[in-house]
Amino acid sequence: MSTVIDEVDYGPLAQLIGKWVGSKGLDNAPDAKTKPDETTFTDEIIFTVSGPAENAEEQNLVSIKYHHVVRKLENGHVFHDQIGHWIYEKSTNIIMHSLSIPRAVCLLAGGEYQENNGESIFNVEAKAGSQTYGIMQSPFMLEKASTKAFKMHLSVKGNTLNYHEVTSLYIYGKDFEHIDKSTLLRVTY
Ligand code: HEM
Repeated sequence: MSTVIDEVDYGPLAQLIGKWVGSKGLDNAPDAKTKPDETTFTDEIIFTVSGPAENAEEQNLVSIKYHHVVRKLENGHVFHDQIGHWIYEKSTNIIMHSLSIPRAVCLLAGGEYQENNGESIFNVEAKAGSQTYGIMQSPFMLEKASTKAFKMHLSVKGNTLNYHEVTSLYIYGKDFEHIDKSTLLRVTY
């Protein structure tokens, strides 16, 4: 796939463009009981271009936007919905990922783009309290189910995409690592 679309060079982000589906997702979510909830799920992610952005006449960013819908494997019910942008700066190799989920949590995570054996690797992190790669959440979530940190590893090779994300929560009076991982295949560009 060319990285130049409508005369904009999307660099490594171009490899994400398209519709991806998967049925191998695994969610490890908090539960008030002693055992966490493990749920298998299907994924659908659609990535589309969202154009270039110049900041303060010196930073040149390109970005793609996405919508990620997660359904329970057992009954098809939607149990997670996420929108966001992946953003890339060519001169510094910086990758950023902004996302929002309808629990009233949003964040901006950052990292550096990497390649290994033809695989494109997007690793990003955010921490609550940071003024840059940080996390914003509603007063309720901050008090009852706070997100303290977020780490995501996403990799793409050809038409296969893997992600593994760890959302560090403080909920029910203790720390909990909320982990989501999956493998998707591209079905359309
Ligand atoms: C594929 C991705 C994800 C899936 C499938 C997923 C699914 C879930 C599920 C099933 C719960 C438990 C809900 C309940 O107990 O009723 C949960 C809790 C939670 N998730 Fe996620 N989640 C995902 C990603 C994220 C991300 C990226 C964040 C934030 C950055 C996040 C933040 C939270 C928080 C704060 C809770 C605690 C709410 C609660 O249990 O009361 N999740 N998630």
